[in-house]
Amino acid sequence: METKSHVSSKGLKNVIAAESSISHIDGETGLLIYRGYHIDELAAHSTFEETCYLLLNGELPSGSQLVEFTARLKQYREIPEAILEGLQAMPRDTHPMSMMRSAVSDLGVLDPGEGEHSIEAFTERSIKLTAQLTTLLAAIKRIREGNEPIAPDLSLSQAADCLYMMNGEKPSADAEKAMDLILILHAEHGLNASTFAARVIAATLTDLYSAVTGAVGCLKGPLHGGANTAVLETLKEVGSVENVSAWVDSVRARKGKFMGFGHAVYQTQDPRAKHLSELSRRLAAETGEPKWYEISVEMEKQVTAAINKNCNVDFYSASLQHYMGIPGDLFTCVFAASRIIGWCAHVIEQISDNKIIRPRALYNGYDERKYVPVDQRG
Ligand SMILES: CC(C)(COP(=O)(O)OP(=O)(O)OC[C@H]1O[C@@H](n2cnc3c(N)ncnc32)[C@H](O)[C@@H]1OP(=O)(O)O)[C@@H](O)C(=O)NCCC(=O)NCCS
Repeated sequence: METKSHVSSKGLKNVIAAESSISHIDGETGLLIYRGYHIDELAAHSTFEETCYLLLNGELPSGSQLVEFTARLKQYREIPEAILEGLQAMPRDTHPMSMMRSAVSDLGVLDPGEGEHSIEAFTERSIKLTAQLTTLLAAIKRIREGNEPIAPDLSLSQAADCLYMMNGEKPSADAEKAMDLILILHAEHGLNASTFAARVIAATLTDLYSAVTGAVGCLKGPLHGGANTAVLETLKEVGSVENVSAWVDSVRARKGKFMGFGHAVYQTQDPRAKHLSELSRRLAAETGEPKWYEISVEMEKQVTAAINKNCNVDFYSASLQHYMGIPGDLFTCVFAASRIIGWCAHVIEQISDNKIIRPRALYNGYDERKYVPVDQRG
C-alpha cells in the first residue's frame, strides 16, 4: 500500500507525465513555442492550415506540401448528412459542447475505418477531424438558432469558411484574419487537461474518435475551455467600467473565482493574451461598440492588482469573439475546432511510443475490516 512517504501531487501539479516535442511552455518567462516556432511568429506570419501541418508533421511545409495538405483538409470539410440530422434531433437547449461531443462520437460510428490502428490511419483521421470540427461548429451555431446548416465553400480558407458557414456571408479580410488567429493561438498547449485526457484514452490503444470525444467533454469544463463563456457572462453582468470595482470586491468577498485569470503553468502574462487583446481593441473601434473591450481592460487592471494573477487566453477571447458575432455559449466549440489538431498530434505522439497511463492513489480510507451481513448491521 502507498504511504504518506510516497509523493502525491494534487492535480498532478508540476508532475512530468510524458515527453513531448510538440510544444513548449516556459511559465516563468511567458514563452510558448509550437515545434520550436514562437507563437508570436506564427501569429504574425502563419495560417491555421500551415500551423496544423507543423503540429502534425513536426516541420513547416514546403509550398507544394502546403497546397497538398490544404487540399486534403478541404476534401474532408463536409460532414455526413446523418450527423446534421442527429444535431437537429437534439433538444434545442442542449449545450453546444455536448452537441459537439456527441457528434464527434457519431463521426466515429459512421467511419468504417474507425478501428484502424496505425500512425498513417490516425494521421489521415486527424486531418479529417480537423476539417470537420470547423463545419460541426458552424452547423451547431445555425441549428441552435433555428437555421439550416450551410455547406462548406471550398474556395475559402478554413477560417473564412468557418465564418461563412456560421453567418451565411463571406467574411471581410479582417474577420478572416481574426478567426485564423484565434485558431492558431488555441491550437496547442502542452499537457493541458483535455490533451492529457486524450492521451490517457489513446494510451489504452482505443480509436482516435474515442480520444477526441473525451477531450471535447474535458474542454467543456469552466476551469478549462469553458472559461471564455463565463468571461462574457461576467462582462455582461458587470455592464460598465464604473461597476468593475464593486464587482471585484463582491467576488473577493464570496471567495469566488475570477474567470479568465490565473494559469496552471504561466506565472506571468499568457503570451496568447496580448494578440487577442489587440484584436479585441481593433474590433471594438471598428464595431463602434468599445464598451466590452473597455470593461475588459479595467477588469484586467483591477483583478491583476487584487489577486496578483494575470489574464489568460480565455479573457480577451471573450470580448473578441463577441465582437465577431459569435454567441458566448459557442466560444468553447471554437476553442475545440482549433485544439483538435493539438489533441491529434498528442494522440499520435502517445501511440508512437505507447505506455498505458495508470497512476496510483495514496489510499486514505479504512484499513481492511470485517464484512458484516446486512441483518447484523446496527
Ligand atoms: C486556471 C486555474 C484552474 C489554475 O489553477 P491552479 O493551477 O490551481 O493555479 P494556482 O496554483 O495559481 O492557484 C492557486 C490559488 O490561487 C487562487 N486563484 C488562482 N486563480 C484564481 C482566479 N482566477 N480567481 C481567484 N483566485 C484564483 C486560488 O486560491 C487557487 O487555489 P484553489 O485552486 O484552491 O482555489 C485557476 O487559475 C482558475 O481557476 N482560473 C479561472 C478559470 C480559468 O480562467 N480557466 C482557464 C485557464 S486557461
